[in-house]
Amino acid sequence: MTITEPLAANGTGPPAVLSAHGVTVRFGGLTALSEVDISIPAGALVGLVGPNGAGKTTLFGVMSGLLHPNKGHVNLLGTDVTKATCETRARLGLARTFQQPELFLDLTVREHLVLAYRVRHYRSRLWKDVFTAGCLKRPDPAETERVDSLLELLSLDEVAHQPVRVLPLGTSRLVEVGRALATAPAIVLLDEPSAGLDRHETERLSGALRRTVMEEKVSLLLVEHDVAMVLSLTSEIYVLDFGSVIAQGPPAEIRENPEVRAAYLGDEDIAIAAS
Ligand SMILES: Nc1ncnc2c1ncn2[C@@H]1O[C@H](COP(=O)(O)OP(=O)(O)O)[C@@H](O)[C@H]1O
Ligand SMILES: [Mg+2]
Repeated sequence: MTITEPLAANGTGPPAVLSAHGVTVRFGGLTALSEVDISIPAGALVGLVGPNGAGKTTLFGVMSGLLHPNKGHVNLLGTDVTKATCETRARLGLARTFQQPELFLDLTVREHLVLAYRVRHYRSRLWKDVFTAGCLKRPDPAETERVDSLLELLSLDEVAHQPVRVLPLGTSRLVEVGRALATAPAIVLLDEPSAGLDRHETERLSGALRRTVMEEKVSLLLVEHDVAMVLSLTSEIYVLDFGSVIAQGPPAEIRENPEVRAAYLGDEDIAIAAS
């Protein structure tokens, strides 16, 4: 890995926490991404949208380290991480959530956050606790305070002592966000967090993400099929179509962009969002 300047993707504007430059990914003869540039500044909530097959999941993979591009670079907090693993990126400050929540069903909501906090803050003690069966006991005051404040931020305090097994999907998604935040990341990548949620749950999640960006020193990249959600929540949106960025800008511009409307022709989400 080499240290480089964390410039925004277009070389101007505020320094990026995470950026991709000229990223191309091919699967055999299919070009899934072609020369994609994207940049997420500090403290920003950035959206990535596009119709099915546009390349969103592929770009998510390139940014999080699951996939290595054929061409181009990924930069995280000034470090070129193009070839770095997911684990290295996590250590540098990148967290992610999964489309299917990957939670431990018998652990409580609070225990999930405590574990994530300990993985980040004192890895050595975590393993000692596991081997001495002292796991999840003996909290220190900083840990208790941080976990309590995250439970409150995400409105999870009332279910803090429930096992995640009994939670509805919308609440499980919030647990995943809380777990990501407990690792003190600089950026969290969210993979279609609204998938499978009803309107009420989506609104609750949107509120929690809005509060997170306002109150935490963190950037969020929201990869979403739900265009209405992204338009209402983010400050900057990238639109992918057939592996290329066809538009980039604030929600008001994206809403009016004829190319974006054409890409989503017949898609109810944008029809609702644009009306
Ligand atoms: N592992 C893979 N092997 C072959 N083709 C793939 C693979 N992953 C994705 N693709 C193809 O790449 C394109 C982009 O897919 P994807 O990134 O999943 O789009 P989106 O998430 O926007 O729906 C699609 O045409 C998809 O069929
Ligand atoms: Mg996808």
